[in-house]
Amino acid sequence: MLPTPCYVIDKARLLPNMEKIAWLRERSGAKSLLALKCFATWSVFDFMSQYMDGTTSSSLFEVKLGREKFPGETHAYSVAYAPDEIDEVLASSDKIIFNTIGQLDRFDAVSAGHVRGLRVNPGVSTSGFDLADPARPFSRLGEHDPDAIAKVADRVSGFMFHNNCENADFGRFDAMLGHIEQRFGFLIRQMKWISLGGGIHFTGEGYPLDKLADRLKRFSDENGVQVYLEPGEAAITNSATLEVTVLDTLFNGKNLAIVDSSIEAHMLDLLIYRQPAKMAESGDHEWMVCGKSCLAGDIFGEFRFDQPLKPGDRLSIQDAAGYTMVKKNWFNGVKMPSIAVRELDGTVKLERSFGYDEFVAALS
Ligand SMILES: Cc1ncc(COP(=O)(O)O)c(C=O)c1O
Repeated sequence: MLPTPCYVIDKARLLPNMEKIAWLRERSGAKSLLALKCFATWSVFDFMSQYMDGTTSSSLFEVKLGREKFPGETHAYSVAYAPDEIDEVLASSDKIIFNTIGQLDRFDAVSAGHVRGLRVNPGVSTSGFDLADPARPFSRLGEHDPDAIAKVADRVSGFMFHNNCENADFGRFDAMLGHIEQRFGFLIRQMKWISLGGGIHFTGEGYPLDKLADRLKRFSDENGVQVYLEPGEAAITNSATLEVTVLDTLFNGKNLAIVDSSIEAHMLDLLIYRQPAKMAESGDHEWMVCGKSCLAGDIFGEFRFDQPLKPGDRLSIQDAAGYTMVKKNWFNGVKMPSIAVRELDGTVKLERSFGYDEFVAALS
């Protein structure tokens, strides 16, 4: 039996997402690059690379990981590069996308022979949280002024727009793309490629994938550009679990179970966005599942079970791939979850375990 805590990536659950991504490329011509900021667990990259075209990144380390571990195209993007990283970023990438004209200018000479792009901020987004809203007031994420962008358009061959956030509404996507075309169309038509970023939940149940494919193809044909998408969450949604074990129980007006994990350390994104974890529920025994860190609000959520929970029970927290493993941390010295992969034939392989040595190595 697998040790806990443990993230388990299930290839059989990853496969339907991958097949949708491959279908979308077939039908629309749009290439999909995995956004490593969302998911960087490289033990499944060979599998994913059979369906996706490569990776995109947010930093030097991510671009190096993409180049090293994920066959295909490697896009480099960062909110800002430092002078001592730029050579390695260029050496590790097929394209570099600068966040600002300032960065394009600063690294103009060194990047002159490279395929270059610029991030453009269309000023609209679908984010419900200002923390994650690229179009928030005074946003630093990309250039927004068409006149300023026009002056440097001859130095880049593509643009990146990332303005969708968890957007499951095709109509909203379509309308925002229309807005982008209206405002930046004359610039887009001067480019060879356009990345539309991530945040489109096109692998979700019931998403009109055919409409998305047709819209992307039309955008590509009318503007004469190769379209890229940068799915993070859409690529890995519902494909992993966090397996935990109950260590203790108590009652304080509610039934409480403390598990050998921590939402703060192992599923931080949920805490940041104030969302409960997901667990398959059945029965009528209500329990609050809590983490073992000292943080009072280290709570995964309240769930129903068939039986009262007791020490030794194993629980499986769903949808633990995106923005989860990439954000895990050593808060409280809580044991770091191992990483396992369930192959398509059902066999499970423990890929990696972390011990005290890694805890020590994380600081000095
Ligand atoms: C530039 C860029 N591309 C792609 C993504 C991936 O987005 P998602 O995981 O929502 O698909 C993000 C997420 O923040 C991003 O900032």
